[in-house]
Amino acid sequence: MRLEVPRRLMIWGAIALGAVLLFSGALVTQSRRVRTRSPMFLSASPIQGSQLFQVKGCSRCHSVNGTGGKLAPDLGRSQAAEASVSQLVVAMWNHAPQMWERMRVEKVEYPALSYEEVAQLLAYLYIARHADEPGDAVRGKQLFAAKGCIRCHSVHGQGGRIGPDLAEVSGVDTPMAWTQAMWNHSDAMQARMREVKLDWPQFDNYELRDLFAYARQVSKPQIAAGDPQHGWKVFQKQSCNACHSIKDEDDQRVGPNLGRSLKVPPTFTQFGGLMLTHAPQMGRAMKEHGIERPQFAGEDMADLFAFLYSLRYVEPSGSPHVGESVFSWRGCNRCHGESAQGSVRAPALRGRGTGYTSVSLATALWAHGSRMYRESRALGMGWPTLSEGDVGDLLAFLNSPVQTSSGKK
Ligand code: HEC
Ligand code: HEC
Ligand code: HEC
Ligand code: HEC
Repeated sequence: MRLEVPRRLMIWGAIALGAVLLFSGALVTQSRRVRTRSPMFLSASPIQGSQLFQVKGCSRCHSVNGTGGKLAPDLGRSQAAEASVSQLVVAMWNHAPQMWERMRVEKVEYPALSYEEVAQLLAYLYIARHADEPGDAVRGKQLFAAKGCIRCHSVHGQGGRIGPDLAEVSGVDTPMAWTQAMWNHSDAMQARMREVKLDWPQFDNYELRDLFAYARQVSKPQIAAGDPQHGWKVFQKQSCNACHSIKDEDDQRVGPNLGRSLKVPPTFTQFGGLMLTHAPQMGRAMKEHGIERPQFAGEDMADLFAFLYSLRYVEPSGSPHVGESVFSWRGCNRCHGESAQGSVRAPALRGRGTGYTSVSLATALWAHGSRMYRESRALGMGWPTLSEGDVGDLLAFLNSPVQTSSGKK
């Protein structure tokens, strides 16, 4: 066992190096193929997306997790956290006519969005869904006693004196920062708990968030971003990869696989709760392997989680045959032709050498949708709406070579 570790680490090192090369390769390759074929999320920055959300005027109408305009639905956590990117694209697609009407009424300029910008906006909106609701301070107070925090900590002077007064410590003003501080101090806290014969607490569901609400009594909105690219760096720098794989492989590392196979909870703070709950076992494994307990600074933990959650973005796929039917069920064929080969009304969508992705579909919506909408009204047909399950099939159809199905009908 002890001899095996360095070898494992070396193998991992090689894998990590390969992954870094691949990753940075993907980032610098500007070829159209990479841009349009690969899902955007590894390279799209949610942080830039959050800036675009302001710059492009989305925030004039929409809020995200309570911050922003009130003229249109909140696009943050009120949406199902486990929803996929196609769900987001489809929501945008289906609501587009109302959105355009609203833009006309509000005299908001129609935003021009490039492929990269749409990718960033989607990455932002996707990550924003994992932010926490404001916690329940009353419940937090009960938990503070029930979990034994009160034996060591006070809140506004009420409670124990072994640890700091939690209302007063600085720099923990969001549930994420709070989670990170607890992690950073978990080793010392654990030692103190052993002294007073307290078991290390478990953090289920919303407990961490509610504890935070009680201790801090603030409802500062959580910055719902996170930089997955930096998160990947943290993952490597803090040796998470020595014990956790993120690939779909059976690699015998000591910690559970943190890749797509792990079902992650809806919010980042809950995920932090999971990490904290396992802190003693992880700490033991770290000691055995001579790895220092990671200390996080700045937004490290949020970035790390943004990275781990970004592994769950999957580009929808499906059947080109079903997609062809969807294309006519939804009425796209009325303008684009039966096989999407184009007609007098609308351009060809297939066989143009461009790979469609959920991002390019959304980009097309912003770029061409308002004209599509006008044409559909002129034809007396309703706006062609899509359902979430359509996207993968539709993309597969649009990406299929023209020869295989043209002339079939
Ligand atoms: C002038 C106001 C306005 C602006 C600006 C605006 N929207 Fe909208 N948006 C709306 C309205 C209205 C709806 C439709 C609500 C409905 O159908 O009930 C909507 C719907 C949506 C939906 C679907 C939400 C759902 O119901 O699930 C998404 C996603 C969306 N907008 C994204 C954006 C993005 C991204 C931007 C900026 C590039 C933007 N919107 C700019 C008004 C606006
Ligand atoms: C046995 C005593 C003990 C218990 C029980 C305990 N803590 Fe602590 N806690 C400490 C000590 C001591 C520190 C400071 C550790 C250090 O200096 O690294 C600390 C640090 C912290 C910090 C970081 C403060 C900072 O400076 O950023 C947070 C947050 C925290 N504890 C929350 C909690 C919560 C929530 C609970 C209950 C689930 C809890 N603690 C239970 C002793 C305890
Ligand atoms: C020395 C090995 C080691 C290192 C380094 C390590 N972990 Fe772990 N981790 C473990 C082990 C072992 C468990 C399982 C603990 C248990 O069984 O309770 C675990 C559990 C977890 C869990 C809970 C997963 C679940 O399914 O419940 C998360 C999340 C996690 N680790 C994240 C991280 C992150 C993020 C890092 C880097 C900052 C990290 N770990 C570093 C060994 C490690
Ligand atoms: C009423 C006619 C009409 C219908 C129905 C229609 N479209 Fe379009 N579509 C157009 C027109 C016209 C354009 C070109 C608009 C422009 O040039 O600005 C277009 C452009 C597009 C583009 C962008 C093409 C490019 O050049 O990048 C895509 C993608 C697209 N449509 C997909 C669809 C899908 C998917 C459906 C069905 C859900 C659909 N369209 C239904 C008329 C229509």
